[in-house]
Amino acid sequence: MTPEQAPTVAAEAPDDLSPASLAQGVTFTSGATLSERAEELEEHMMKRLNRRIGKSVLFTSGDLDPTQPAPPPADPSQYVLMGDDPRLPKMPEKPTLLDFFKYRFSPSQNHLLQSATHALKDGHSEKVVLACLLHDIGVVGFIRADHGYWGEQLVAPYVDEEVSWAIRAHQALRFFPDPSVGYEYPEMYVRLLGPDYKVEPYIEEEYKQARDHKWYMTSRLITLNDIYSFDPNAVVSMEDFTDIIGRNFKQPKEGLGFDGSPVAHMWRTMIRPTKYL
Ligand SMILES: [Fe+2]
Ligand SMILES: [Fe+2]
Repeated sequence: MTPEQAPTVAAEAPDDLSPASLAQGVTFTSGATLSERAEELEEHMMKRLNRRIGKSVLFTSGDLDPTQPAPPPADPSQYVLMGDDPRLPKMPEKPTLLDFFKYRFSPSQNHLLQSATHALKDGHSEKVVLACLLHDIGVVGFIRADHGYWGEQLVAPYVDEEVSWAIRAHQALRFFPDPSVGYEYPEMYVRLLGPDYKVEPYIEEEYKQARDHKWYMTSRLITLNDIYSFDPNAVVSMEDFTDIIGRNFKQPKEGLGFDGSPVAHMWRTMIRPTKYL
């Protein structure tokens, strides 16, 4: 057994495992930069937590070269974390979709609420409103890259196939104008991606297939409502959608992550993103 596999039992973790409590007593090296201070704080919290948190390769890939050895743990004698990360809000045992919005999704979920509110005000069907409400859950809770595909998979077992298909297809459709419904290439993409950005061949192919699909307009409506959904002052409320979710999202009674569905592991990973294995 290597030392890493055979930790010695260290001092007990404090009772209060909130981030504020774990941060108590931290001291910073004088002259440390902001990122050095962040590292020192994390190290201090890990010591107080008495658990070592190994980050997924994906979490640091890019900031670090994933093919190179990861920085050694501050204290290799600590046990690794195999459950809830106490730095995160605790989730109910049987989490619902709304619990994920409340305890795991980033503040950019406001964009989803604005998009769905826009669709609701325009009188679209509940399927379209739900598709707008969930279209970027890949971004707000899981993984940005190829977010339409992640989003489709996350919700597929729980929504009408038209909704999950539309979420997948918006990944490609948002790059292609459709003057027949007044959808132009978003000005925001010119600013974000640069004026010369060209989509990759697989996106072009997805677009061609989606263009001829019977549910094309459902996905197109996601992109239409998407565009107008970045108002920082918009007043939105999840209460406007709880009934629509209730009627259109098949919440598993065991809780998302624990229903044995083909994507349950993806929801569990959002509940415990730092679980060692
Ligand atoms: Fe999107
Ligand atoms: Fe969006």
